[in-house]
Amino acid sequence: MTIPDVRAYDALGATGPLPPGSPALAPSPAPNPAPTPSPAPVPPASTPPRASTGFDPETARRDVPVLHRTVNGQPLVWLDNGATTQKPRQVIEALGTYYSAANSNIHRGAHTMAREATETYEAGRAAVARFLGAESPDNIVFTRGTTEAINLVAQTWGRANIGPGDEILVPRLEHHSNIVPWQQLAKEKRARLVPVPLLADGSVDQDAFAGLLSFRTQLVAVSQASNVLGTVPPVKEMAALAHRYGAKVLVDGAQAVAHFPVDVRDLGADFYVFSGHKLFAPTGIGALYGRPELLESMPPWQGGGNMIDQVDFTGSTFAPVPHRFEAGTGHISGVAGLLAAIDWLTGFDREAVAAYEQELLAYAERALGEVPGLRILGSAPGKIAVLTFTLAGLDPADIARLLDRDGIAVRAGHHCAQPSLRHYGLESAARASLALYNTPQDVDRLADSLLRMRQDVA
Ligand SMILES: Cc1ncc(COP(=O)(O)O)c(C=O)c1O
Repeated sequence: MTIPDVRAYDALGATGPLPPGSPALAPSPAPNPAPTPSPAPVPPASTPPRASTGFDPETARRDVPVLHRTVNGQPLVWLDNGATTQKPRQVIEALGTYYSAANSNIHRGAHTMAREATETYEAGRAAVARFLGAESPDNIVFTRGTTEAINLVAQTWGRANIGPGDEILVPRLEHHSNIVPWQQLAKEKRARLVPVPLLADGSVDQDAFAGLLSFRTQLVAVSQASNVLGTVPPVKEMAALAHRYGAKVLVDGAQAVAHFPVDVRDLGADFYVFSGHKLFAPTGIGALYGRPELLESMPPWQGGGNMIDQVDFTGSTFAPVPHRFEAGTGHISGVAGLLAAIDWLTGFDREAVAAYEQELLAYAERALGEVPGLRILGSAPGKIAVLTFTLAGLDPADIARLLDRDGIAVRAGHHCAQPSLRHYGLESAARASLALYNTPQDVDRLADSLLRMRQDVA
C-alpha cells in the first residue's frame, strides 16, 4: 500500500497542486466561482453574511481540499453536509501521519508505538470530553457513530431499566436511528414507544410533550437538531421537565455538534451521542457521553478483548468505564482524525460561526423564496441551516440529479426520517444542508440552478 504523502495536502488550497489519484479535481478553480447570471436576482438581503458576523467562511474553505474540485465540469457546491461533512486537510494529515508514523494497537502493547497510539486515543477522548463539557474523559465511550451509540444505550441501559408498560417518548422529527432502536427495545420489553407530535412549523409540540410525560416515562430520546426540518427543540427545558418524572434523557447531537457549541451538563443530558463524520472527522468514529453514575450502573454490551478485567471459563469480570463498553480494537486512526477535527473547529470563534450560519440560512431562505413553486419544510425559530424543500412539478430525485449536473450536491429521499416528512404529507424531499464553509455564492448557485429548472418545467 502506498502511504499518501501528507505534504501533498499541505500545499492544497484554491490554487494548490492536486493530491495523488484525484483525476476529477480541477487544476486551479477559483474557490468561489462567479455565480452564473440569475434569472431573478437575489434581493439586497444578499449582503454577504460574513460582513456582520465577523466570521469569514474563506478561512474554513481554504482548509478543505475537496471543496476545490469540479463535478460535471462545474466547481463543486457541497450542500450535503447533513449527510456528511467534508474534511479539512488537518484531519486528512492526521490520518496520514498516524498511518505513516504511528500505527499501533493500543493498551495491550508494551512498546513505544503502542504507548504513543494509546496517548493519541486517550487524548481524543479528553478532547471529546472538553468539546461536550463532560465531567471527565471517563464519561466518553467511542462508538462507530450516533447509530451505534444509541443502540448501545438501548441494549445496556435500556434492557436493564425498561420494563412492561414503561414509556419512551420520541418526537416525530427524529432520525430513524433514534426511533428504531427504541422500537426494538419496546417490543422486547413490552414497553411503549410514544411519538411526541410536531406543530406546523416543525417545532416539537411542548404542550403535548408535557401532557405525555408521566411516571411511566422512563426515557425521552430527542435530537438537539433535526436533520430534515432543522428544528432545534428546547432540549434543556424538555430535560428539566422529564427529570421531574424521573425519566432519563438521551440527546442525539448528530446534527447539532457542527453548528453550535454544546454543553451536556448545562443541557441536563443523561446521554449525548454524535458522529465524527458530521463534524469534519472521518467516518466510523463517534461518541457516547453518559452521566457518570449511569455509565457505572450499565452492564457491558458487546463482549471481547479490551473490555474485560479477568476472563476464566467460570466467568469474566469487566474493565472500568468507559473501556467496558469498547470491546475489540477501536478505530484508532478515526480518533486521531476526530481529535484533529475538534481542534480545527474549535480554532474558530464558534459563536461567530453560528451567527454566520444563521445569516447564511436567512439569505438562503430568501433566495429560495424567489423560486416559484418551491416549498421549504420547517420554519421553527432558531433552526439550523438545513433547507428541505419540494419544487412543484419535479420529483426530489430529479431535483438532486439536475442540481448535480450543475455541480451542486444535495440529498433527496426520505432522509432516514420518514415520520417527519409524513408530518407534511410527503414521502420524499430534497435537502440542502449548509456548513461553515458554505458561502452566499454557493446559495446563489443553488437558487440559479433551481430557477432554471423551474423555467424548464413551466
Ligand atoms: C439527527 C441524526 N441522528 C442520527 C443520525 C445517524 O448518524 P450515523 O449514520 O452517523 O450513525 C443522523 C444521520 O444523518 C442524523 O442526522
